[in-house]
Amino acid sequence: MRAVDLRSDTVTRPTPEMRRAMAEAEVGDDVWGDDPTVIELEAETARVLGKEAAVYVPSGTMGNQASVRAHTRRGDEILLHRLAHVVMHEQGGVSALSGVQPKLLDGERGMLDVETLEAAWHDASDPHYARQSLVCVENTVGEAGGLVVPPERIRAIAGFARDHGMRLHMDGARIWNAAVALGRPPADLVREVDSVSVCFSKGLGAPVGSAVAGSAEVIAEVRRNRKLFGGGMRQAGIIAAGALHALRHHVERLADDHRNARRLAVGLSGAGRIEVDPAAVETNIVLARVPDGSAEALVGELGEAGVLAGWLDAHTVRFVTHLDSQEAAVDAALEAMAPLLR
Ligand SMILES: Cc1ncc(COP(=O)(O)O)c(C=O)c1O
Repeated sequence: MRAVDLRSDTVTRPTPEMRRAMAEAEVGDDVWGDDPTVIELEAETARVLGKEAAVYVPSGTMGNQASVRAHTRRGDEILLHRLAHVVMHEQGGVSALSGVQPKLLDGERGMLDVETLEAAWHDASDPHYARQSLVCVENTVGEAGGLVVPPERIRAIAGFARDHGMRLHMDGARIWNAAVALGRPPADLVREVDSVSVCFSKGLGAPVGSAVAGSAEVIAEVRRNRKLFGGGMRQAGIIAAGALHALRHHVERLADDHRNARRLAVGLSGAGRIEVDPAAVETNIVLARVPDGSAEALVGELGEAGVLAGWLDAHTVRFVTHLDSQEAAVDAALEAMAPLLR
């Protein structure tokens, strides 16, 4: 059996149609603002997300970090969940690149709630306190297993931010999955946020790139930060064409990934060595609990059997379905894993 790679939805290869679109892309110098394919991608992304403007960036990390810097000043405090990618997996970037202090909050299912935010708020007219200028949310919540944040929750958090003079940024690396899972247009899920970073290189299957969308004013600042962080690209139309193809052709099909994730979860639910709850699968991520704390060793064993997975901690293995792991691959993976999981 060829290895089935379920480590992440970032492992996909461009499809032949995507490669063709990339090969034929019209290009210019994007730092000078004249790459027609990048311009088209940015305009289409802004339209799909219902925002005034968007900017193409090399990665989701840069999208988040350039946004944090756009909304804050050095010494500010930003409020976010302790499981947020922005603080867990971006190398302390908010402190290193924007000089802000993160305030890490708890919340069920990896999600913030207004009560917790209210308790974390302080009146910065007292000079002991940092100015709180930004709240960050994530949708879907990766670390919690691709959970979809209910739109009413985002609306309530946006209301809190507005009432306290703060901005709201969404790490929407997998906002497409959330939209498909809810059967709603992506614009419905980001209406109240001041900026949203979205990825083309995850479920959508493009080889490179993310975008940040928001008001023209916010995006102008994010564009400046992109250059500051070394993300100004030249004939970027070649990669933007892959992203544009993904945006046009690979959003609806995320429903297949979600179906395959549930299929995988159901197939794993009878295993003795791990615990999987198919009802907890909302999008393309399946978390398996490993009661004996051997997640890392188990991932090694699965790898030898031809199934690549990831582990989040000693008790959690993660599987992610994507464009290159369709139903037959999921079934092959289940068959290969069965003897190890009894
Ligand atoms: C929720 C979330 N945000 C941001 C990112 C960062 O994206 P990139 O790897 O393109 O920097 C990731 C990457 O996996 C992610 O899962």
